[in-house]
Amino acid sequence: MTKSTASQDSGDTMTHLDLFKKFKRFNPLEPSLGTVGFFLVTVFFIGSFFFLDYTAVVQGLRNRGFVLLGLRFSPLSSSSSSSSPSPSPSSLTGDTRVEFLHQHGDCCDVFNGNWVWDESYPLYQSTSCSFLDQGFRCNENGRPDSFYTNWRWQPRDCNLPRFDAGVMLEKLRDKRLVFVGDSIGRNQWESLLCMLSSAIPNKTSVYEINGNPISKHNGFLAFKFEDFNCTVEYYRSPFLVVQGRAPRGAPKEARMTLRVDQMDWTSYQWKSADILVLNSGHWWNYQKTLKMGCYFQVGEEVKMNMSIEDAFRNSMETVIDWIAREVNTNKTYVLFRTYAPVHFRGGAWNTGGGCHLETLPELGPLPVLSDSHFRTVFDVLAEHLNKSQVINLDLLNITQMSLSRKDGHPSVYYLGPNNGPAPMQRQDCSHWCLPGVPDSWNEILYALLLKRETFHTKNMTQISQDPS
Ligand SMILES: *[C@@H]1O[C@H](CO)[C@@H](O)[C@H](O)[C@H]1NC(C)=O
Ligand SMILES: *[C@@H]1O[C@H](CO)[C@@H](O)[C@H](O)[C@H]1NC(C)=O
Ligand SMILES: *[C@@H]1O[C@H](CO)[C@@H](O)[C@H](O)[C@H]1NC(C)=O
Ligand SMILES: *[C@@H]1O[C@H](CO)[C@@H](O)[C@H](O)[C@H]1NC(C)=O
Ligand SMILES: *[C@@H]1O[C@H](CO)[C@@H](O)[C@H](O)[C@H]1NC(C)=O
Ligand SMILES: *[C@@H]1O[C@H](CO)[C@@H](O)[C@H](O)[C@H]1NC(C)=O
Ligand SMILES: *[C@@H]1O[C@H](CO)[C@@H](O)[C@H](O)[C@H]1NC(C)=O
Repeated sequence: MTKSTASQDSGDTMTHLDLFKKFKRFNPLEPSLGTVGFFLVTVFFIGSFFFLDYTAVVQGLRNRGFVLLGLRFSPLSSSSSSSSPSPSPSSLTGDTRVEFLHQHGDCCDVFNGNWVWDESYPLYQSTSCSFLDQGFRCNENGRPDSFYTNWRWQPRDCNLPRFDAGVMLEKLRDKRLVFVGDSIGRNQWESLLCMLSSAIPNKTSVYEINGNPISKHNGFLAFKFEDFNCTVEYYRSPFLVVQGRAPRGAPKEARMTLRVDQMDWTSYQWKSADILVLNSGHWWNYQKTLKMGCYFQVGEEVKMNMSIEDAFRNSMETVIDWIAREVNTNKTYVLFRTYAPVHFRGGAWNTGGGCHLETLPELGPLPVLSDSHFRTVFDVLAEHLNKSQVINLDLLNITQMSLSRKDGHPSVYYLGPNNGPAPMQRQDCSHWCLPGVPDSWNEILYALLLKRETFHTKNMTQISQDPS
């Protein structure tokens, strides 16, 4: 692996650390810039609350919260008064949205909404969760601001249930919940481990079944919650399809291939999960494939001129076919998490782009997604999940909601407390700080699970199998 690919946007966080050892140098300007920036943002932020609150009173909206440039602000007074479990969002804001879990919430698109300031968040502290890679522990790694932990996702047309770890663990009793994908999938998996374990007083009753540490970065990790006989697992498979040596007789520039018509060999281990959360996308780029001599293979043939986009599309077809053919969707609830946007400004991940000093979500118009991968997933799914093929795969359609969260990434704070911030030109604006944005994806996952339990368990239909 070359240096430049090592810090590729969804490369594992360990590789950032390795890189740092090579690049270690301190930028004397950086800490003071950070402090000044933090101060300015704080002043701006507190200032805006006074201004906004005043506006709200004048308009008689005090109890409703209000929307500013796409962000919705709940009144501070009601949420800051107690640190005990918060009342439901509707009683906080006095709104009239239906509850998602109620039958009337059936049509609610939970992915369409706003980020709402809510001081009853975050749901856990990184210091009290041992299941986090160092790279996600932003505040412990020196990030000075923590506003990014206080935003709650509020769907436009309904209210999500407040996350309750005990309820979720009860739903997971005797079950396996499996995440498969790249390190952003790992990011979400670790978030859920923290969210769930916050309800377990005896931390030693939650353990990796093979005794592996969380920092192990290849293969898989499975954490058991002993009291509930359930496991929450992560399989690393950034492409979801088989990557291996090129077949004999292949052109010699093809050192490796991705077999876009063949699911990852480890798929036999995930297919029997009770809940399966897949993701793919970040690794389908030039640096992670063609540049490394990794070409695409269909059957025995290496397709030397197949484009990355076509290869990704083919792999998605393979995934959908596999679900239809191999997964018992009566038992297994399959979700696909859509592309998690990255936020590099002033350059790309490998050309000094960054997201440092971003302490607030995007307030203006949302940036246009430059990556076409998120469209590919929608297109392939739309072709399959049409009227003739009744949906038994849910999307965790988080792309849009995460797009405004340029404040949610580790930036230079991924190296551990004793290693100082990373060099400015080596920022991580792909992964997410924890607690943070992936917690909200998991709250939606929680809501979808409860919804499914409530109304759909006895009425599941399968994706009909394509006879071809
Ligand atoms: C995903 O969510 C976005 C934002 O709400 C929406 O515009 C888009 O249509 C959704 N896509 C699918 C396939 O549900
Ligand atoms: C634990 O869950 C597994 C399924 O994941 C089940 O086969 C097993 O019987 C359960 N064990 C106990 C003690 O309930
Ligand atoms: C905590 O869990 C461990 C592992 O299951 C168990 O050996 C220990 O007795 C538990 N401690 C308490 C106080 O329940
Ligand atoms: C790919 O290569 C094949 C021959 O190997 C050729 O027939 C085809 O036109 C090429 N496609 C593109 C898009 O270049
Ligand atoms: C799934 O459930 C349906 C309806 O209950 C049933 O007809 C079908 O055989 C089941 N499929 C499997 C693989 O168990
Ligand atoms: C639905 O999907 C199937 C399989 O991909 C396809 O053959 C069919 O034409 C699609 N139907 C519509 C209405 O798009
Ligand atoms: C399943 O759904 C269909 C229509 O969506 C409905 O007519 C049927 O009564 C449902 N069956 C059960 C067991 O809920």
